[in-house]
Amino acid sequence: MVRCIGVLTSGGDAPGMNAAVRAVARTCLNRGIEVYGVQLGYKGLYEGQFIKFDRNSTRNIINLGGTILKSARFPEFKDPENRKKAIEQMKKVGMEALVVIGGDGSYAGALKLTEMGINCIGIPGTIDNDIPDTDFTIGFDTALNTIVDALDRLRDTSSSHQRCTILEVMGRGCGDLAIHAGIANGAEMIITTEVGYDEDKVIERLKESKASDKKHAIVVITENITDVHALAKKVEAETGFETRANVLGHMQRGGRPSARDRVLASRMGIYAVELLEADEGGLCVSEVNGKITGLPIADVLAHKRKIDFGIYEDAMKLR
Ligand code: ADP
Ligand code: F6P
Repeated sequence: MVRCIGVLTSGGDAPGMNAAVRAVARTCLNRGIEVYGVQLGYKGLYEGQFIKFDRNSTRNIINLGGTILKSARFPEFKDPENRKKAIEQMKKVGMEALVVIGGDGSYAGALKLTEMGINCIGIPGTIDNDIPDTDFTIGFDTALNTIVDALDRLRDTSSSHQRCTILEVMGRGCGDLAIHAGIANGAEMIITTEVGYDEDKVIERLKESKASDKKHAIVVITENITDVHALAKKVEAETGFETRANVLGHMQRGGRPSARDRVLASRMGIYAVELLEADEGGLCVSEVNGKITGLPIADVLAHKRKIDFGIYEDAMKLR
């Protein structure tokens, strides 16, 4: 029976991470399991930056964005010697198992630690929704609502000035934020890596829009596809649409978690502790058709998440 568990947040922060930390801590304390918060992700694990949690430690955090544990990227954790050092730090305080809240990189670290004898359970905390085999990741819903709020504001000014507005959103390897935001705001075009990017087709479509007497247009595009400011200049020159580009940036990562993210995080946090109590390791918590379950991290990391083209197609039907 596990007696002492650590919890950390790693990779890019996501709204709802605190609700997951709270759920892990409270589930442990309610079941007589000691629990430590590990600061700064794997960096803090390596350095032994641990805070012993009591019931007060997670009061008033369910509603907070960011992560009270801080997060870090620590590529040095790929080195097995550094992982050994982290395990030594855990043993010093009697920490036997770990809950890792983060994205796929964090999952890779959790799997490697499990292979070295420390049971780890992953919880999907990332705004990108890029983890396969879970309906949603914690933070996606909040970030999506932030983007839609920004798009609604841009739509106002775009419409007033009869402009084309291009908004670049985050999503690294996954177009879900762009696609869901695009359908929610009624965008003219949604561009993601999965959907494909062809500059000539973008220009052609916007020329058609202009010719069909549309007064303004919204284009949502995932980051790392093209320079949106250069694209705006080209669209303006070739379509006659006065065009402005915006990059939403880290604004998308902050803010009060949505109710949906708090519920998901709370349920996942409880389940992660239950898996560790059952002596499971190398698993991640997923929401599959609304049900919380545990899946092998190795299987989840073996493939890439596919976007739902149905949602994209529906968005295009409504232009
Ligand atoms: P995310 O978890 O959001 O995908 P990263 O890809 O930056 O973010 O990964 C977060 C951290 O997980 C890294 O900084 C590193 O500490 C750890 N990590 C990533 N990949 C590995 C790996 N292959 N082996 C061990 N640790 C890893
Ligand atoms: O993984 C979350 C994410 O916000 C991605 O959407 C984005 O590409 C990346 O992190 C940005 O990372 P950083 O905060 O290191 O700039």
